[in-house]
Amino acid sequence: MEVLSREFDIESTKKSYKNIVPVYNLWSRLTESKAAKYVIRYADIHDEETILEVACGTGIVFEQIIKRNPNGRNIGIDLSPDMLEKAVKRLKNHGNSNYELKEGNALELGLADNSIDLLINNFMVDLMPEDMFDGLADEFFRVIKPGGRVVISTFSAGKTKVNKFWSWVALRFPDLLTGCRPVSFRANLIKAGFQIENNLELSQNTFPSNVIKARKLK
Ligand SMILES: C[S@@+](CC[C@H](N)C(=O)[O-])C[C@H]1O[C@@H](n2cnc3c(N)ncnc32)[C@H](O)[C@@H]1O
Repeated sequence: MEVLSREFDIESTKKSYKNIVPVYNLWSRLTESKAAKYVIRYADIHDEETILEVACGTGIVFEQIIKRNPNGRNIGIDLSPDMLEKAVKRLKNHGNSNYELKEGNALELGLADNSIDLLINNFMVDLMPEDMFDGLADEFFRVIKPGGRVVISTFSAGKTKVNKFWSWVALRFPDLLTGCRPVSFRANLIKAGFQIENNLELSQNTFPSNVIKARKLK
């Protein structure tokens, strides 16, 4: 598929999520919550795992992760301090405290090789330039333990005419969607060495998304 070109710049990303943070949870509830349910289902979380959520945003999925992994290690990273601040507020009154939330960049996770059982990443790849996809997939592969898995959701092109409306919005009004646009990350995961286990196309209120589960074989 032809992917719209995008730039990546840390400061601009921080700025655009500072602006979007007040309405982000509503947007997510209307267009991404269905994908999030599949992400949690595919993740098949067991207690006592080491789990990393890259681009954890306001902590919507991270909250589900820590509930299911109360005796494990849960790490959430995001570039945006404003999104992280909202995640901290969400989790403040949560019973569990076995989590770390910190600023970090998906391209350089700063974690040891083969150290993570499960890596989750939602609606972030669709913001990144396509020529960085291979580097991202390689970085995810590097930190995952042999036998471990990744579950990733993205904005996708979709199948129906109404789905394609969102491709038009991404083309004409990129700022409305903070630069995200339809992508496919599947080939990059395979190139990095992952084996695809699930690949699901979804639509929620016409917004199309893709959820992929892939494993690093032992
Ligand atoms: C559309 S939001 C998704 C947030 C969350 N994953 C969710 O599904 O609710 C995209 C998030 O990716 C973060 N982000 C963008 N580029 C990133 C990068 N290179 N490393 C880490 N986080 C990044 C943004 O700060 C933002 O919080």
